[in-house]
Amino acid sequence: MKETALRIADFKDSIFGVISRLARENQAVNLGQGFPDFDGPDWLKEIAFKKMQEGHNQYAPFHGTPNLRQEISNYYQKFYQLNYNPESEVTVTVGATEAIYVVINALINPGDEVIVLEPFYDSYVASIKMAGGIPVPVTMHAPDFSIDAKELEAAITSKTKLLILNNPHNPTGKVWTKEELISVSQLAIKNDLYLLSDEVYEFLVFDGNKHIPTATLEGMMERTITVSSAGKTFGLTGWKIGWICANQKVSHACRLVHQYVTFAVSTPMQEAVAEGLKKLSDYLPGFVELYKGKRDTFYIEMKKLGFDFPLPKGTYFMMVPIKKHTDLNDVDFAMKLIKERKVATVPPSAFYLKSAEGQGYLRFCFAKKEETLKSAIQNLNGL
Ligand SMILES: Cc1ncc(COP(=O)(O)O)c(C=O)c1O
Repeated sequence: MKETALRIADFKDSIFGVISRLARENQAVNLGQGFPDFDGPDWLKEIAFKKMQEGHNQYAPFHGTPNLRQEISNYYQKFYQLNYNPESEVTVTVGATEAIYVVINALINPGDEVIVLEPFYDSYVASIKMAGGIPVPVTMHAPDFSIDAKELEAAITSKTKLLILNNPHNPTGKVWTKEELISVSQLAIKNDLYLLSDEVYEFLVFDGNKHIPTATLEGMMERTITVSSAGKTFGLTGWKIGWICANQKVSHACRLVHQYVTFAVSTPMQEAVAEGLKKLSDYLPGFVELYKGKRDTFYIEMKKLGFDFPLPKGTYFMMVPIKKHTDLNDVDFAMKLIKERKVATVPPSAFYLKSAEGQGYLRFCFAKKEETLKSAIQNLNGL
């Protein structure tokens, strides 16, 4: 038989799948994969069921139902004073993962360079490669995971077309400051780059901090393509409803790709998410409180175990330094914890192309029930 496509020749099984399989085989508490082990809100599930009963079950318009596009546009206006025309500047996708693939394939020609800030969400590099682009890593340096503007500038060439930024940041839990965002934005403007801003954790920001969408920064509305997802915000990652907000020209290009990747997205789920977004203001305080409580408790317990690191300001991840506990690298230590301690985490070196810094860390996901977090801590006791 002939070989499969060259463009995927160096792809491996995603680290999440590998860890989850090992966690199952070893009956380990799974703090690896980034999703809650509890369900999203009942009221929203009931709305989804009602939408099915009401007959919202055939193909939706390929770029998203009018209701959902309108509600997405409304919340960007209400929360961030950003104006996106629901007709021409908002596109609904199968989660943020499809959105990322679509944006990259809509913008990138073979040979174009794309700056990825490492550690990165692993689909960025895969999507860039599938488009024939070249990922160019720039490291967010530990312990605060800041970038050096000079390093970033040095990575930009005449072939650079796009920069991908994730804020709040998976896997580090970093929330970018306004100054940091401005520094990146100025380079994007100076070098005429598009900026893909992955903001799926936009509402998981703690301690009174407020999420700053990149598109709100001066000069950035036109060149920023914002991607987000209902999965994180409503704790329903399996619904896979995401979106792209971008200017008309870029949105049109994205829609051309999207129509041939998925054509249309689940109709009843879109209609339910539209209703969910209408209730965001009432829903969010409880949501943020719930996750903040989990972060605080888990952080205190991790400190007691001797792990010393700054309190993450956003997302539901902690990037935990392991050097004090082991001479092993992240992958070997993660395997040891699964087998000997029955706790699964993600070794973050999979999220780096250039730096070895990830080998000194493990990513823990704290979007878990109280008893799950308790069991993990018990299992890690005495490490
Ligand atoms: C940074 C980041 N971007 C995108 C996604 C994908 O989101 P979705 O489940 O909506 O495809 C994730 C999921 O973990 C993520 O962490």
